[in-house]
Amino acid sequence: MSSPSVYPVTWYDDHVRLIDQTRLPNEYAVVEIKRCDDMAHAIKTMIVRGAPAIGVAAAYGMYLGAREIHTADREQFLTKLEVMAKQLRATRPTAVNLFWAVSRMLKTAHQTIGPVDYLKQSLLEMAQTINLEDLQTCQAIGDHGLQALPTTPTQLRILTHCNAGALATAGYGTALGVVRSAWREGRLERLYADETRPRLQGAKLTAWECVQEGIPVTVITDGMAAHCMQRGMIDAVVVGADRIAANGDAANKIGTYSLALVAKAHNIPFFVAAPLSTVDFDLTDGNQIPIEERDPVEIYQIGDTRLCPPGTEFYNPAFDVTPAALIAAIVTEHGAIAPQELKAQLHTKQVG
Ligand code: MRU
Repeated sequence: MSSPSVYPVTWYDDHVRLIDQTRLPNEYAVVEIKRCDDMAHAIKTMIVRGAPAIGVAAAYGMYLGAREIHTADREQFLTKLEVMAKQLRATRPTAVNLFWAVSRMLKTAHQTIGPVDYLKQSLLEMAQTINLEDLQTCQAIGDHGLQALPTTPTQLRILTHCNAGALATAGYGTALGVVRSAWREGRLERLYADETRPRLQGAKLTAWECVQEGIPVTVITDGMAAHCMQRGMIDAVVVGADRIAANGDAANKIGTYSLALVAKAHNIPFFVAAPLSTVDFDLTDGNQIPIEERDPVEIYQIGDTRLCPPGTEFYNPAFDVTPAALIAAIVTEHGAIAPQELKAQLHTKQVG
């Protein structure tokens, strides 16, 4: 079986290429990004989306910004680079990988000794490192997640929400990385993909990725998940995350929390798959995670068709927080652990 690889963010020659995720699945289009403000726009408008992919894109955005700064004075360069960082940080508030990647790029600039041109080159190299690391991280998450899945039945029916696939990362995916590893090892019967209102990342992107690789996928509307669980059609739920607090509370696409509650009610294990860079150890619990609110047009309009009468009011939070108590395990590149063990894992990996 062919296994076409999907890389949503790539460095090509002297610019970044993004797969335009607003056009999939109907059109496969690539956007060329040459400037920092174009990258900020691409993140804000969700041409590139998904926490780790946003981080990789922002890292390249920092380099593109650095390239636009024309001074040989180191201090002036660093001051102007901070302005680029601010612009990128202002794009989307929930996915912590954005802030993590921008900070890592700034740290590289501050710690690199040498002329400004050398700093710029080291920024490109760091962005490429972040890109490559995320790909390797996702492959590790996939394999650890496979080990954490229930051992029976042999072939699992997994439910996922949103798109935490190759498109949402440097490649391979987090939640969908687990699904890919399960499929590769003959442990997947079928993936159920919530359509994921309002932007339909499940129906459009997760389904597209699966079809590319021949992974059997059934799209359901978000409201059907409880019914499927009640009918015994789901063996495990695997989702991604945009930001995980130190206590294991995990923010992910709106609708994830209700999925976790229903999974608990049906005794179905609920897994969160995410790189350690998605954990925000500065936040003690999920209440502190900033939740992005998006334009209500995403709710009241599909394509050119308006759904609701004028005069209706809307609330459009893009993410919700699943309490750690509902999560069977968090799968990172270092293994699958109970949410309560997160802090220990950071300590082991940084200090050990
Ligand atoms: O608004 P989006 O499409 O950027 O939201 C994406 C998600 O919620 C993903 O599940 C999350 O970023 C994990 S991606 C590996």
